[in-house]
Amino acid sequence: MQINKENGDGIESWQEVTLVYNAALKQVQTKMEILNQEFQHVHQYNPIEHLKARIKSPESIVKKLKRQGFESTIENMVEHVNDIAGIRIICSFTSDIYTIAETIRAQKDIKVIATKDYITYPKASGYRSYHMVVTVPVYLSDKIVDTKVEIQIRTVAMDFWASLEHKIHYKLEGDAPEHIRNQLIECARMVMDLDAKMLSLNEEINQTSQERKGK
Ligand code: GTP
Ligand code: MG
Repeated sequence: MQINKENGDGIESWQEVTLVYNAALKQVQTKMEILNQEFQHVHQYNPIEHLKARIKSPESIVKKLKRQGFESTIENMVEHVNDIAGIRIICSFTSDIYTIAETIRAQKDIKVIATKDYITYPKASGYRSYHMVVTVPVYLSDKIVDTKVEIQIRTVAMDFWASLEHKIHYKLEGDAPEHIRNQLIECARMVMDLDAKMLSLNEEINQTSQERKGK
């Protein structure tokens, strides 16, 4: 059997879009679950608190294409919509985010095609998260399709902020009054401080526990 290595554009129908992106999402999800279990085994520690995975609804895909000025074709979806398959990884500490990003980067069958570090460079809204767009090979009976998955990695606190901000954005149709926007920016600062404090506290706890064991 001859196998063609396709670059996403081998996808021919909406059913195939759903199938291929679901398969890609499952693969990334499984990889992350294995990583978490292995970390528990080696370091007695879980870097991942929980995972959320979703396939973008057809309505949202069409809306996004329209916003970008593209016609709703399968080709355009595959080419221009990077988050048809999306996975959100929630961790306890900011340091976990970079550990996870590094292990994703080190996996040979994953190709990282873009990263955005909104933790080092937060958005004007106050939004913080680490984003990666990767491709994973999906093996079909007659071809291999490199399929894009958007990975968002953030702490529990960043996720709390982003969920609330998203809800406000949605409820106020993207037009929140200035005082609300300012308070959200203030909350984002508090989240940043909380994350920093929790990280240093955790390091202190680990160190104290090590010292006690050494005695
Ligand atoms: P879209 O925003 O999805 O059109 O893609 P993009 O290419 O502009 O990428 P970007 O990194 O800006 O955003 C990708 C995703 O991150 C979004 O779909 C949201 O899930 C999330 N995100 C980005 N900015 C914000 C923000 O200000 N607030 C919240 N709550 N989420 C955001
Ligand atoms: Mg955007």
